[in-house]
Parts: sequence; structure tokens; C-alpha cells
Amino acid sequence: MKYKMETDTFCKTAAYDSTDSLLRETDLAIMEIVGGKPLEGTITIQGSKNAALPMMAAALLSEEASELIGCPDILDVRNTLALLEELGVKTTQIKGRVRIDAGKICTTEISEKYANKMRSSIMLLGTLLGRFQSVEITYPGGCVIGKRPIDMHLDMLHAFGVVITECDGRLRAERKSLRGTIYRFLKKSVGATEHGILTAVLAEGESIFYNCAQEPEIISLCTMLVQMGAQIEGSGTSRILIRGVKKLHGIQKEVPKDRIAAGTYLLAGAATRGKVTLDQAPVQEMEAILYVYGKMGGQYKVIGGKLLTDSRKVRYPVRNLQTREYPGFPTDLQSPFLAACLTIPGVSQVEETIFENRFKVVCQLQKMGGKIWCDNRRAVVWGGVPLKGTHVIAEELRGGAALVIASLYASGKTVIENCQLIQRGYENICQDLYCLGADISI
Ligand code: UD1
Repeated sequence: MKYKMETDTFCKTAAYDSTDSLLRETDLAIMEIVGGKPLEGTITIQGSKNAALPMMAAALLSEEASELIGCPDILDVRNTLALLEELGVKTTQIKGRVRIDAGKICTTEISEKYANKMRSSIMLLGTLLGRFQSVEITYPGGCVIGKRPIDMHLDMLHAFGVVITECDGRLRAERKSLRGTIYRFLKKSVGATEHGILTAVLAEGESIFYNCAQEPEIISLCTMLVQMGAQIEGSGTSRILIRGVKKLHGIQKEVPKDRIAAGTYLLAGAATRGKVTLDQAPVQEMEAILYVYGKMGGQYKVIGGKLLTDSRKVRYPVRNLQTREYPGFPTDLQSPFLAACLTIPGVSQVEETIFENRFKVVCQLQKMGGKIWCDNRRAVVWGGVPLKGTHVIAEELRGGAALVIASLYASGKTVIENCQLIQRGYENICQDLYCLGADISI
């Protein structure tokens, strides 16, 4: 079936209908792409997945309802809403407006049904401990991109006086009081930093975190919490100080735009040598990717909130790219970057420094004819060799996006299985690419 623009079919209330056929991870969605067309046109960038999830957790810290505007309608958001509904939280999701009313939470035992689908669910431990004595959860899920331990999350909670026990794969966190603490993260972690912040805002007294991650999503979380009445200093720096308060109130807050989705479409434009305009792209947060795009030969300008890109001169390989914490090149764009490099004659190379196992997509790209080699840390691409459409399987979100990019360049038809994993993070990837002229169906 050719892709049709049916935006309204995505707008439903959040009372999650398990019969909903579009967006279940257990469904097998298949995408077909006939490559070879330069992408051209304008699309609007969705709200940020990685910002929305902790902001949804923040809404639980108040007994008053909060509303997130511009919240992406993606699988992870739907699963989070369904998970919250199970706790007794009232939620609605109508055309990008997500309302969360956590006034009456009836249980803090989180079932595994949704928790093990998303890594961000771990943040609910500390968040709910701000208001309740105990919380139970299964180990969190998420993309299979490395070990993804939760040791720092648990260690950080210990520092607040939380006692954690494990039984049959479930974690139980209990506290008498939640005491402010001084804590240094062993490694910069986005999720653990957000979790620390969410735990500290309702804790007693002052907390200071050192070696915090500095991603923009942490700043949006802190901005939201401050608007709710939290006292936070130093967000966006490696030292964050929080003075606990007794109560927070509900607010209305806009979810920032998704720098990773914008980067993905930028790289799709690069791979097809197209001219793509990204309306509302968060350009200030995209410095590293725009720098790399410029190195590839891509040209861009920003006019009136729009990022206008022109990839017709993309032709230079990129030899020494490393993924880094923000403001460095994001690990989430590493796989899409590899796919774009396959289209550029010469040798490109990327070193993955954040996750240990983030080259899963390489063997799928090889199936398409890509000359690409990797070990645990490094991938080397011999670009410019023609890619041929074939049958490939998305194994995780950003690797799936990389397969889409490679398919847009490849000759003939590519069939991508497991596209529901791509829908975890991209609201309308088929519709967006269709608008840009891609021959795509799902
Ligand atoms: C978040 C993003 C994800 C992005 C990643 C890195 C969300 C929902 N996801 O994931 O898209 O790829 O940041 O930018 O925002 N680590 C530990 N122990 C822990 C926690 C993390 O060792 O307890 C390690 C991880 O294995 C990894 C590194 O810290 O090597 C960074 O991971 P982290 O920043 O925590 O990633 P996430 O927050 O899971």
C-alpha cells in the first residue's frame, strides 16, 4: 500500500488501545523504499523524543495536571502514557498536546508490560519516590546498543538514602526519608543525570551533582521543573545544585524540537544529494552535525527559523569522526552518518566512544552492498560503491533510520522489516520522506 498522508489517524487519546494496529512493538511493520531520487522540499521537525520522556516524568512530581505541547506521537510516548495510566494517572494525547494529571496515583508498582520497552522508565523510580514511600519496577528496556547498565542510577538513589532490593528481575526501591545528597556521577550519563534531578527536586535539603551530562534535554527538563517551582542552579553545566521544595505545581510547557530527527533528515538529504528544508530545526543544538555536514561538502543557511540545506556538492569523505557527549557529535546520529558516508567516494571512519555495541546496522548495510567494516569501537566505510535494494531488518531505532537513508540512495527496491522500532523515535518518517519526494510505502 502506498503511503498516504493520514495525520489524524495518529491523533488519539492516550487511553492506549492495545488493539491499535499502527504502533505496537510486537507488530511487524514493513517499509518499502525505491531509492535513487534526490530529496527535495520542506518538512517540519517533530518534538524531541529524548526531551519529552523526562518531561513526562517531571509532570508526575505535582498533584496538579501539566500539559506538554508539541509532544511527538511516537511509540515511546504512547508506551509511557499507557504505563502511567496503569498507575492511575489520567492522561490525554490530542494533536501533540499531552496532558498528565498525577493527582491520584493508585499504585507505584510498575508492570513490566511497558517498563521493559523503554530505558527511560528507570527514571520513574526516583521521580515517584519524591511523593511515595516505595516503587517497584522491572529492569528497563530500550535499544540494544550496548550493555546499558543502570548501576549509576541505583548508586545515585542509594546516596539519597533509598534502599533497593531485587527479586525475580524486579527492583523495589524504598525510602523513609529522601535526603538531599552530594553525588558525583562516575561517567557522564544523560539518563542518570535526569534521574538525579527528578529525585532531588522534592528531596529534603540541598543536593549537588558533579560530572553531570550537559545535553540540551537536561536543560529543558530543568527549565520545566523550575517553572513548576523547583530550585535548580547550573543546568547545562557539569555541576548542578538543587534545593528541595515541598511541592511543585502543574504547568504548560512546549517540548523542544528534536535535534536527532533533524540530523537524520539532514543526512538523508546528504545521501540523496537533495535540497531539504527543515522547518523549526533546533539549529543552535546542531553545531556538531552541521560542522560535519559542511565537511562533507553540504551547504546550508538559516532563514526565519528554517534550516535550508543543499547537498548537491556533498562529495568529501569524513575521516576521523568520534561520537561524543554534547556538544560533540551525537552517538544517536552515528548510524545515519555511516549510511550517508556509503554514498561518498573515499574512506570515512567513525569511532563510537559512548556505547560498546552500536554498529549492529553494519551487517544490514553490507547486505545492501555497502563496503563497511567495524570492530567494537570503529567503523570504516569505503564509500561510493553502488548499493542495491534488498531485504533488510531494523534491529534498533537509529540503526533502522540508517537503513532508511541507505535505501533512499540504493538502486531498486529495499524492504525494511521491523519498522515499528523506527516508530519508537520518528513520528512520521514515512510521511516526511514522502513529502520530500521519496518513493516510500509502509
Ligand atoms: C540517552 C538517550 C539516547 C542517547 C544517549 C547518549 C534518552 C531517552 N536516550 O540514553 O538516545 O544515545 O543518552 O547520548 O534520552 N552508563 C553506565 N551506567 C549507568 C548509565 C549509563 O555505565 O547507570 C553508561 C552507558 O552504558 C553509556 C554511557 O553511560 O556508555 C552513556 O549512556 P547514557 O547517557 O546513560 O544514555 P541514556 O541516558 O540511556
